[in-house]
Amino acid sequence: VISLLSKPEVDITELKTIIEHEPSLASSVLRLANSAYARRYGEIVSIKDAIMRLGTETVLKMVIATGFNPLIAKQARSYDLPPEMLWKHSVAVAITSEEIARKLGTVEPAHTYTAGLLHDVGKIVLGSCLEIDPEPILGMALRERISIDIAEQQVLGIDHAESGAILLENWNLPPSVVEVVRWHHQPDRGVETQLMIDLVHVANALCYVCDIGLTGVRLKMCPSCESVARLNLTSEVAEKAAETAKERIESLLPIFIG
Ligand SMILES: [Fe+2]
Repeated sequence: VISLLSKPEVDITELKTIIEHEPSLASSVLRLANSAYARRYGEIVSIKDAIMRLGTETVLKMVIATGFNPLIAKQARSYDLPPEMLWKHSVAVAITSEEIARKLGTVEPAHTYTAGLLHDVGKIVLGSCLEIDPEPILGMALRERISIDIAEQQVLGIDHAESGAILLENWNLPPSVVEVVRWHHQPDRGVETQLMIDLVHVANALCYVCDIGLTGVRLKMCPSCESVARLNLTSEVAEKAAETAKERIESLLPIFIG
């Protein structure tokens, strides 16, 4: 998957070969091609026809999401995040980032979806690999009314955004993905990847506020006013993006999760 991300374009034969060697992915692609979401003219049984019906972009995103599944479907134990919840939230932020761009009439930069999908991977690093004690962090966040990432920095000297970025840097993911993961809570950077950072940052907040992809967890998370202004995002456009994102996620998640 990482090598796929470094290519400017992926051809259909390569995609077909990857999918045919991964039975669970092959069944997900066929189920999506035959679902109400895509079905128009009869049943599809071959991977090639499924790619033709869904389009290489959609199928590539399924390959990316499935490829990173073993990583983001892990339980962030210390954060008390069940595996399904972080996975759903990650897919939701990826899709919502795209929908915000579409509703704004902007083409999202390459890898926005992947960056959205991986934005909270640092929670797996801190929560499961390092098994940090979350009590002092959560306590400080509640007591001082500060966000979790600021509390993480105070207690641990590093936050989940930075630890996720370090992991992905070591895995040679595209630099734009690493940048977005690193700054998704502090988006006002004035860097080349600013649009991508803004899209994922605002999508993350929108997913919490509108309960997109989450199972009943309602956290208050306000997006940066500067991000909203840079995107020229009105509440009307945000609501429309949230609505379409919800519909897409509801039709996709059962196919991914089974
Ligand atoms: Fe985060």
